[in-house]
Amino acid sequence: MKIIETIEEMQSFANQTITEGKHIGIVPTMGYLHDGHMSLVNRARLDNEIVVVSIFVNLAQFSPNEDLSTYPHDLEADKTKCEDSNVDVIFCPNEKEMYPSVPLTWVNVDIITKYLCGINRPNHFKGVTTIVAKLFNIVKPSKSYFGQKDYQQNRVIIKMVEDLNFDVKIITCPIIREKDGLAMSSRNKYLDEKQRKEAVVLNKSLERAKWLIARGETNASKIEFEIKQMINKISGEIDYIEIRNAKNLYKIELIQDDVLIALAVTFDNIRLIDNIIINNKKL
Ligand code: PAJ
Repeated sequence: MKIIETIEEMQSFANQTITEGKHIGIVPTMGYLHDGHMSLVNRARLDNEIVVVSIFVNLAQFSPNEDLSTYPHDLEADKTKCEDSNVDVIFCPNEKEMYPSVPLTWVNVDIITKYLCGINRPNHFKGVTTIVAKLFNIVKPSKSYFGQKDYQQNRVIIKMVEDLNFDVKIITCPIIREKDGLAMSSRNKYLDEKQRKEAVVLNKSLERAKWLIARGETNASKIEFEIKQMINKISGEIDYIEIRNAKNLYKIELIQDDVLIALAVTFDNIRLIDNIIINNKKL
């Protein structure tokens, strides 16, 4: 497994790989890898001759009030996990390599970045799309892998790829959960014992919503209200609970077609997100 830290080396490796007729799959991450990340890696391994995992904690997607210094990292453990999963390259540039001077060019996807996570994190997606666009130019992948866990991020990246004609196929992989249903996240380790137990309610409330829809409930507000009641019983504070069209993320009142039920809940400073996609025709 190669560890590449410079853009120049990464680009020349990518050019060489493409000349040899091989395809590159990239899994963009911010490190501290868990089984959720590794599921993307495993999927990428099936599809591509060369798998690159990028590890870069991207300052540009954090708000000034979010403490970047506490974002967990453990590069040595990440290397071991990647090695065990037959990753070909870890691309782990430092801040100066990625942003040698203050950037004046940003990639910004409009409208669908303004609600859900965009309300409390106004510049977040601009930071995400800019770094992902940079990674695509550096790593030159044919395919890129993202988790459904960050569903809005996925839709935003798919729109960016469509609007800017990136020649990269976006593959969305399912949410990997702990045994009790909590979606895996690098942030879970900051939950104390009580919060960790309570956090299970996030997934439970989504499952309850699914059950209500399966029983014929079509009123989105009623379902949102049921979820809210469940989450109000725990100490976490609701950031949002929303039911939207899974494709264009528009707000809906009537449950039909594919719907996204998404929520964000904060325990002290620990913000957890989760979601479920309900394909109404399949129920
Ligand atoms: P990060 O939070 O490290 O997540 C990297 C990828 O792992 C994302 O596509 C995310 O959706 C996926 N992921 C995280 N938890 C998951 C889970 N439980 N199941 C399945 N997939 C999961 O998302 C980012 O980094 C950054 O915004 C990034 C795209 C790298 C840009 O900086």
